[in-house]
Amino acid sequence: MNAKELRKAYVDFFLKHGHAHIPSASLIPENDPTVLFTTAGMQPLVPYLLGQKHPAGKRLVNYQKCLRTGDIEDVGDSSHLTFFEMLGNWSLGDYFKEGSIKMSYELLTDVLKIDINSLAVTAFEGNENAPKDMETYHIWKGLGFGDDQIFFYGMKDNWWGPAGQTGPCGPDTEIFFDDGRQKCSPTCGPSCRCGKYVEIWNNVFMEYNKNADGSYSPLSQKNVDTGMGLERVAALMEGVKTPYDTGLFVPIIEKIEELSGKRYDEHVKDFRIIADHLRAATFLLGDDMGVAPSKMDQGYILRRLIRRASRYMRRLEIDGCRMADVSRIIIDRYSDVYPELERNKEFVFASIASEEEKFNKTLDRGLRIADRMFEDLGDTKVLSGELAFRLYDTFGFPIELTKELADERGMTVDQKDFENRFKEHQERSRAGAEHKFKGGLADCSDETTKLHTATHLLNAALRQVLSADIMQKGSNITSERLRFDFNFDRKMTPEEIQKVSDIVNDAIKAGIDVVCEEVPYEEAKRCGAIGVFEGKYEDIVKVYRIDGVSMEMCGGPHVSNTRDIGGFKIQKEESSAAGVRRIKAVVGQF
Ligand code: ALA
Repeated sequence: MNAKELRKAYVDFFLKHGHAHIPSASLIPENDPTVLFTTAGMQPLVPYLLGQKHPAGKRLVNYQKCLRTGDIEDVGDSSHLTFFEMLGNWSLGDYFKEGSIKMSYELLTDVLKIDINSLAVTAFEGNENAPKDMETYHIWKGLGFGDDQIFFYGMKDNWWGPAGQTGPCGPDTEIFFDDGRQKCSPTCGPSCRCGKYVEIWNNVFMEYNKNADGSYSPLSQKNVDTGMGLERVAALMEGVKTPYDTGLFVPIIEKIEELSGKRYDEHVKDFRIIADHLRAATFLLGDDMGVAPSKMDQGYILRRLIRRASRYMRRLEIDGCRMADVSRIIIDRYSDVYPELERNKEFVFASIASEEEKFNKTLDRGLRIADRMFEDLGDTKVLSGELAFRLYDTFGFPIELTKELADERGMTVDQKDFENRFKEHQERSRAGAEHKFKGGLADCSDETTKLHTATHLLNAALRQVLSADIMQKGSNITSERLRFDFNFDRKMTPEEIQKVSDIVNDAIKAGIDVVCEEVPYEEAKRCGAIGVFEGKYEDIVKVYRIDGVSMEMCGGPHVSNTRDIGGFKIQKEESSAAGVRRIKAVVGQF
């Protein structure tokens, strides 16, 4: 079974069990400033896990594009990936532990034909927030698992979420493939890193909400949120050792072999880094909410991915700017599943090529600065961690490059000091990357609710004042302000800004009801509702109608009457990227 068949087998299995297939959401979270990227299939579903009604029902299934950059430095080994696809199924207050575990077991053993003896599972051992999960233990026992196949672990291993600072979370049961080799020690188990156990599925029993003060309270409904890593399971199904040996990666690896004239098996790590990073970069750029490389947020992570790949392409002595050639293979490989890649391919190729060129220039400057640093060292012959880190931070020099340069001059690098600084930085940026702002989809406070509705009014006003072609390119709402990106290729004039403000404030003063309707997607489109996704939609969508002003597909939440917003003020209008403008605005009484 290859990856394509696996996606289909997974979705078909859950369709058979009464689930609705929902589309993969954007990699750039919609209205969720707590995270830079979609890191799990549950992220776009937070409002529904918290109790809002999902238009597609209580049982959902999908495959979701995900990006996690916390372990970017580990990419190159046999298991770490930045971009990956997550197969997931959800129960929104419907089935719980028994239903979920039994379906997982049936899929693994009946559909994927994995022998029960090759499986091991875990359960939560309990703490002050939640009791030991004996129910899960008994369900697995009832399915025929022996005590030597069921392991209890604590918070670190068997509790998942929230995805941001607050939100739904709970104990989980993880399912591992046991490759059958001897345990590496008497305590070896699924939490051991020796490689005997490969995690294939995580079933989270989301019945708690983590609050801003760190406490946990029960959710209004008991949910199930599961995630299966497509690439890992594809490797298992294809009988190969790593995701890089599956059909998902082989054409990419072959392209790099062709470009470099070198063999993968002689440069495994370099090939893997290039393949992983360019796959992630291609999906980020090729998303309908795609970002361009920049100094900030998503754009900065994208920049690092491209630059790191570029450095490794140089190591393989690939001449010129050839990244777009690799991207082309990735788009060919994936666009039947993710058609947005084909739609956005010109942007992908142009952005990758321009970033690659830019880095080649920085690289030369960095090399000159490094030269000077080494000259200034004198007799100590050890480059400090601080300087090595500066090369990394400013010019994106990986430590390997700095070490190579030192080596050529008979010098060394204080790697330990570098690593301490690096770790500190990584923790900071991880905190930055994964917990950026307060607010987000888990935040349904009055303030964010007002800002959601104000965003609809702003979107409509921009279309009225500037052009009917205005499209939302990104939206980000914290509890303090809204931020709205849209396609427009020049600065707005003060008069235009005033006009937009007036339209929004007039709509607020008019006190119009905000009406939510659930209608078939095609009908919503026919009636002129605007929506931000180009991709497939669920059959039934939610449309928020503000009569005479706006009609927009959206998950909510919204105020019930525009009057509740109070007032609206644009604070800033600026450029966000080429052809994209950004407005920051606040609501309240002014
Ligand atoms: N949300 C869970 C995970 O990412 C399923 O592992």
